Amino acid sequence: MATPHISAPDDAFAESILLPGDPLRARYIAETFLEDVTEVTAVRNMLGFTGSYKGTPVSTMGTGMGMPSASIYLTELTRFYGVRRLVRVGSCGGISTDVKMRDVILAIGAGTDSGINRTRYNGWDYAATASYPLLRAAADAAAGMGIDTHVGNLHSSDLFYNSYNNALEIWQRMGVLAVEMEAAALYAIAAEEGAQALAIVTVSDHLVTEEQTSSDERERTFDQMVRIALEAIHNLEQG
Ligand code: HPA
Repeated sequence: MATPHISAPDDAFAESILLPGDPLRARYIAETFLEDVTEVTAVRNMLGFTGSYKGTPVSTMGTGMGMPSASIYLTELTRFYGVRRLVRVGSCGGISTDVKMRDVILAIGAGTDSGINRTRYNGWDYAATASYPLLRAAADAAAGMGIDTHVGNLHSSDLFYNSYNNALEIWQRMGVLAVEMEAAALYAIAAEEGAQALAIVTVSDHLVTEEQTSSDERERTFDQMVRIALEAIHNLEQG
């Protein structure tokens, strides 16, 4: 079977998937962390792979940037390919001064300026939250590896280059840790499809200090998130 944006056999994906924005990061995850890897889809170069981690089947696929792109892949993966555990591994812009460059955040929830969850939820405000078992497994896995994490809220924005008045001030007042562009949609789609989801993000730039990371640094911190995600999935599935 194929969907409009994924060309893969019915059973091509594992129940658990790591979701970077960049499809080349999906290839990197597959080549670096998984065994017995098969490339399962490449429609529009949005590469997807399936392999295993310590014997647990795991897939990885790019989502593109932003909620409209991510929503297409997340819906098709959950609705048509049986994916049940979704972990986004991405970057974010720091908002809270409690979070520093390269810190890892486990997103307990995500607010958004997007209309997409209201569209999904009859115009009401959906509480876009992580799966608690997945969140707890990730927090435990990180602690076990000696990696410090923050657990808190993100803001998922439709705009990378936004010109909202006072946005930073409002986010800070509401205790938002960081801004990115996918988590709120991920959480709502997982809820709709009866799946579990978690967004793990690393601070790649800071909106207050205006620091930025080099692409080399982003690669190194990326590995930490992937390790947390894989251990969390492995521990959950091995129960
Ligand atoms: N804004 C939105 N998304 C992001 C950012 C940002 O500053 N940094 C990394 N992802």
